[in-house]
Amino acid sequence: MITQNTIDEIFNTAKIEEVVGDFVYLKKRGANYTGLCPFHNEKTPSFVVSPAKGIFKCFGCGESGNAVSFIMKHEQLAYPEALKYLAQKYNIEIEETEQTDEQKQQQSKRESLYLVSQFANQWFQEQLHNTDEGKAIGLSYFKERGFTDETIETFQLGYSPSGKDKLTKAALEKGYQLEYLTETGLTIQKGDYTFDRFHDRVMFPIHNLSGRVVGFGGRVLKKNEKTAKYLNSPESDIYHKSKIVYGIYFAKKSITQKDNCYLVEGYTDVISLYQKGIQNVVSSSGTSLTEDQIRLIKRYTQNITILYDGDPAGIKASFRGIDMILAEDMNVKVLLFPEGDDPDSFAQKHSTEELEEFLTSNATDFLQFKIKIQKEEINNDPIKKVEVLNDIANSISLIPDAIKRSVYTKECASLLDISEQALISEINKKIRKKLSGKLNKQEKEDLNKLEPHTSLSANKTTEKVISRRNFWEEEIMRLLCNYANEPVTVEIEIEPENEDDSTSEVQKQTVKASAAEWILKELHDDNINLNSPVFNEIIDFFKEKIINGDSFSTQALIHHPNEEISKTVINLLAEKHELSENWKKHNIIVLPEKEVLNQSILQTLKFFKLEFVAEEIRQMQARLKETNEPQEVINILNQIKNYTEIKKRLAKELGVTVM
Ligand code: CTP
Ligand code: MN
Repeated sequence: MITQNTIDEIFNTAKIEEVVGDFVYLKKRGANYTGLCPFHNEKTPSFVVSPAKGIFKCFGCGESGNAVSFIMKHEQLAYPEALKYLAQKYNIEIEETEQTDEQKQQQSKRESLYLVSQFANQWFQEQLHNTDEGKAIGLSYFKERGFTDETIETFQLGYSPSGKDKLTKAALEKGYQLEYLTETGLTIQKGDYTFDRFHDRVMFPIHNLSGRVVGFGGRVLKKNEKTAKYLNSPESDIYHKSKIVYGIYFAKKSITQKDNCYLVEGYTDVISLYQKGIQNVVSSSGTSLTEDQIRLIKRYTQNITILYDGDPAGIKASFRGIDMILAEDMNVKVLLFPEGDDPDSFAQKHSTEELEEFLTSNATDFLQFKIKIQKEEINNDPIKKVEVLNDIANSISLIPDAIKRSVYTKECASLLDISEQALISEINKKIRKKLSGKLNKQEKEDLNKLEPHTSLSANKTTEKVISRRNFWEEEIMRLLCNYANEPVTVEIEIEPENEDDSTSEVQKQTVKASAAEWILKELHDDNINLNSPVFNEIIDFFKEKIINGDSFSTQALIHHPNEEISKTVINLLAEKHELSENWKKHNIIVLPEKEVLNQSILQTLKFFKLEFVAEEIRQMQARLKETNEPQEVINILNQIKNYTEIKKRLAKELGVTVM
């Protein structure tokens, strides 16, 4: 593990404009630099680098980050690798946490496992290309399947010959230890007797993210043999089947570029698609799809397209895949191949153009896919329709993002011609059920207080209120993150000393504070929770700083280990509006926000509170419709009255009219 000290030093030393400048031609513009975005195709620069904030942001594609995340994204490196890259660039010595003897041993054991796998990989390839048996049986088999020499070389395909222990012998002769041969599963040991796991098979090496071989799949050549068609390496310290997908090393760059990943079932599907130019393809070969595998893909894209066989097993597997992918907050499309074909056979039969055309025009969003595939049953059988609805409601309920959920709910209701409201309540039921399984008592109570997710179309004004509220919520956060440490003067009200003395005037006093203290106090005093969970996490970060009396370094947020937090803050810090040249031409002077900070914050808080109150009122009105408990009705009405007064006062102060 790289120590926090080293990480801090790297972040402090690395200059974003230099790091990015190694890959992008940057031009100075004011305090910032601009250039052509390396993450999408563009002709005019919308990619901005801010040295002061240590961030980059593309206003074209939305990509943003700090020096380390730039390198991760651009060079396709994992976090520690990106840190090492920067350390090397800036001659920073990497300090790693002291390893125990056991850890050292563990590490050298893993290294040995890699080395023995690498040896086997080379040996299998040698057998394929340089032995009579390999050429006659293995190579001709691959050729027959339509694999080109280039493909065979890229994927490092090999051949394991007949015989009892040829590989084991060769490895031992070269000085590799039996212990590592058995741990990787290449050699099987029974008492004193050792033999090769793979023989008479063509070999598919499995690479990890950095391209090292961690395991193998071996396929029998003769049809109708009793032995399993594919034999795979067992789990080992370097090969965790649930955490790796076949082909990821070759696909990762293309997945980022295409912003999509095709997910297929087998080794040969990956290879054939790749050979036809579809390089953003991986498979979960040998296991059924796991959460970790999806998260691995998520490092490169938010979008997965499942390509499975059109048989019942393929459909079933695709349904399972859909739900797992949705639960990771990713987008999922599905495409089933015609009966009798799999991606491999289809790719072999068609040209690149035909294949691309087929993929783009047949990939169907999960919702339409689920409906399409069960269309007949739905139309002919009401019971089946309910079943399908239930299943789809379940899939939608897995989507963590509320807005996305609403969009799908709406679409589903209209596709299946059912009431949106009914579907929403079904979905909410499922969400709550799932949640309450995981919650303690207090959390359950909190949950019940929550407004369930509401219809998007139910009420246009609702939509507007929510989006306006979110706009001001973001503005507040933007001010908070940009000016946290800036001094402001705030007027606060002081309670009269004698509480009963209603005649005494409310005292006002001016105090000095930081912008962050002010904003947090306002939110706290009015009991305002933000809608966005990640905003709330950022607020908590500031709260903790205030409690500890620390100053707020936005750098700590920009480099926050939680990627969602760092991304959000970076986006808030990126300048949205460049001052228009026109303004300067017409001698219109616009004061920088920082110089009118007091006013900006005050106004923004008021606007936000106005929208907050408006939404509260709307929610109370909705609750009013649902309750017939007299005392509750009275309470709600009183609250509405209160809030309406606040709303009026705020609107008046802001000089806006409200409905
Ligand atoms: N598989 C496996 N063990 C088996 C059968 C299948 O591990 N006994 C895995 C392999 O990763 C295989 C994938 O499941 O690639 C899909 O299986 P299948 O469709 O039967 O194989 P194909 O990839 O179509 O293989 P081929 O075209 O070589 O017959
Ligand atoms: Mn096949």
